[in-house]
Amino acid sequence: MKMVSVLLVSLWLSMVTLGRGSERCDDWGVDTMKQIQIYDGEPAKIKCPLFETFLKYNYSTAHSAGLTLIWYRIAQDRDLEEPINYRLPDNHISKDKDTLWFWPALLNDTGNYTCMLRNTTYCSKVAFPLEVVPKDQHSCVSHSIKPTEEMFYLEHANQKITCPDIDGFYPPSVTPTVKWYLDCNSVDGFYERYPQGPKLVIGIVRSAYKGNYTCIVTFKDHGRTYNLTRTIKMKVVGSPNKALPPQFISPNEKVVYELEAGDDLILPCEVFFTFLKDSRTEVWWTIDGRNTVDITDPKIKVTQSEITRDFEDKTLVRTLTVAKATAEELKRNYTCHARNAKGEERSQAVVRMKVVAPKYTVELACGLGATILLVVVLIVIYHVYWLEMVLFYRAHFGTDETILDGKEYDVYVSYARNAEEEEFVLLTLRGVLENEFGYKLCIFDRDSLPGGNETLSFIQKSRRLLVVLSPNYVLQGTQALLELKAGLENMASKGNIKVILVQYKAIKKSKVKELKQAKAALNVIKWKGEKSKFPKGRFWKQLQVEMPVKKISRSLSLDGLMHIPEKCLTQSENKPKHTSKIHKLGQGVGFFP
Ligand SMILES: *[C@@H]1O[C@H](CO)[C@@H](O)[C@H](O)[C@H]1NC(C)=O
Ligand SMILES: *[C@@H]1O[C@H](CO)[C@@H](O)[C@H](O)[C@H]1NC(C)=O
Ligand SMILES: *[C@@H]1O[C@H](CO)[C@@H](O)[C@H](O)[C@H]1NC(C)=O
Ligand SMILES: *[C@@H]1O[C@H](CO)[C@@H](O)[C@H](O)[C@H]1NC(C)=O
Ligand SMILES: *[C@@H]1O[C@H](CO)[C@@H](O)[C@H](O)[C@H]1NC(C)=O
Ligand SMILES: *[C@@H]1O[C@H](CO)[C@@H](O)[C@H](O)[C@H]1NC(C)=O
Ligand SMILES: *[C@@H]1O[C@H](CO)[C@@H](O)[C@H](O)[C@H]1NC(C)=O
Repeated sequence: MKMVSVLLVSLWLSMVTLGRGSERCDDWGVDTMKQIQIYDGEPAKIKCPLFETFLKYNYSTAHSAGLTLIWYRIAQDRDLEEPINYRLPDNHISKDKDTLWFWPALLNDTGNYTCMLRNTTYCSKVAFPLEVVPKDQHSCVSHSIKPTEEMFYLEHANQKITCPDIDGFYPPSVTPTVKWYLDCNSVDGFYERYPQGPKLVIGIVRSAYKGNYTCIVTFKDHGRTYNLTRTIKMKVVGSPNKALPPQFISPNEKVVYELEAGDDLILPCEVFFTFLKDSRTEVWWTIDGRNTVDITDPKIKVTQSEITRDFEDKTLVRTLTVAKATAEELKRNYTCHARNAKGEERSQAVVRMKVVAPKYTVELACGLGATILLVVVLIVIYHVYWLEMVLFYRAHFGTDETILDGKEYDVYVSYARNAEEEEFVLLTLRGVLENEFGYKLCIFDRDSLPGGNETLSFIQKSRRLLVVLSPNYVLQGTQALLELKAGLENMASKGNIKVILVQYKAIKKSKVKELKQAKAALNVIKWKGEKSKFPKGRFWKQLQVEMPVKKISRSLSLDGLMHIPEKCLTQSENKPKHTSKIHKLGQGVGFFP
């Protein structure tokens, strides 16, 4: 009875401690970092991750401290955690220290495995998933098992790929057969690549040699043949011998960001980094020397993207955006910086402010308008004042054509004698031309007209032939026409006399050939009666332009007035009454007292 009660009490005690122990277990949960995948039918060994990651001591220490390692698993599609049975008929699972062995792993071994370390007062456990996968059909591997990656430097010689995780499966005395495959094609006879025991030697690393290399290790144990399949993904990367400091693609001095104030300023910083193992690749922007990371302005945004190139080289693009940049912000110093283990580089973005277009057109229009206006004003001035301009020019820069030309008179006046224009010629024309402008005139009135040949000699002695046109002139016939003809002939042949046409009164259609020719070829200065009388008026200016250039002083003009040649008789000499009239005219104008 006492024995029974003691047994019961000890059973209860042990149940209580067991219960308390499991209650207190430090559960690390499921270690999803340790995703174990093994091939169906191949041996496998799995270490309890507690000693690798979670506890500070190793299995031997724990074991010698009296702690026990127990394995559980939750099989696929079950929710019950059960201890692993090492005594199955096929005896394919065994335990050695902290390692669980599969000889071989079978598909229904898939599940969540838990290893628990405990004594009566202490407990710690962790779980991890284990997946047993079959090989793909007609393939040496399974697509679901990710190969481990290994990098090889481009153009490096005599590199080796070692078949991994094959130690401990067979004693050192056993030499397994190892077969190598590239993407499941046997590597036997491959160029520059050959197997060497559990290693594959690569003569020279070339870009084309990259791929999935699979080794299948076959050995015998207790009369059974086992396979171990391992795959390594060979990556070809740039050699560190050829590694460079960061290379700027943008910004550079050739790309100019020309913006108007108010536009979004978008600056991409594109930097090429050659592959460098374990090197940091950093790109950052500074604005006026301040890192954008330290700027909290909401207008400023920075984004980054990465493009991987061949041989693990890469391009980083870090884009700086300043929303609606002001003129002030466009003037700032935007510099991109980049750094890797080989060095640090920087490059400033060339940002310029665009001259605002509307302002520009206004200025252009103003300039154009001003130019057009100036041209118009000049044309108007020219049309209104050209006579004055010609006269002014003649007065100041013209050469006196009267000197040494062997002529006596400035003008021979041809007109219809015995007609109403006689007074116009003898008084008005003569008065102004002689007194105002100082020209020497040759005028014959009806009483003093010389003979035909003599008339011609007087015309030849004159620089100009002034023809006063009127219906009477045409009617008068021989004398006047003789003068006109002589003048025109002289002008045409020798060019030493010029004909001036002054229209006293309009002529209807003229049948006189010479007159027609003259009117067609020459300017006709029109007398407009009272309107033209004023000596500073247009008529006289037009006339003056046609007259010879003559540098006259007043005394000379008076001189000219006094020395009227004898032969060229004028009315003034014969009829003093007209002289007084001329004097009156001169006084009226105010030039001659
Ligand atoms: C376990 O740890 C102890 C002390 O830290 C050390 O002496 C021993 O060699 C370790 N054992 C193994 C198998 O690593
Ligand atoms: C797993 O499958 C094998 C045969 O395929 C069988 O012998 C074994 O009992 C199965 N084990 C479990 C736990 O289902
Ligand atoms: C293992 O555990 C994880 C997390 O609890 C779960 O999502 C998964 O389905 C489990 N796997 C198996 C095979 O039970
Ligand atoms: C159980 O293990 C812990 C940690 O190693 C130790 O501190 C404790 O003394 C052990 N308890 C017993 C009863 O051995
Ligand atoms: C290597 O294997 C991975 C994973 O199975 C696959 O995605 C990749 O395409 C393979 N590479 C080559 C070059 O076959
Ligand atoms: C081992 O691998 C070879 C070649 O891949 C295959 O022919 C053989 O059947 C495999 N043996 C076992 C036991 O899986
Ligand atoms: C712009 O800033 C960079 C970095 O702060 C500096 O090296 C560079 O000289 C500056 N450029 C100008 C024009 O100030």
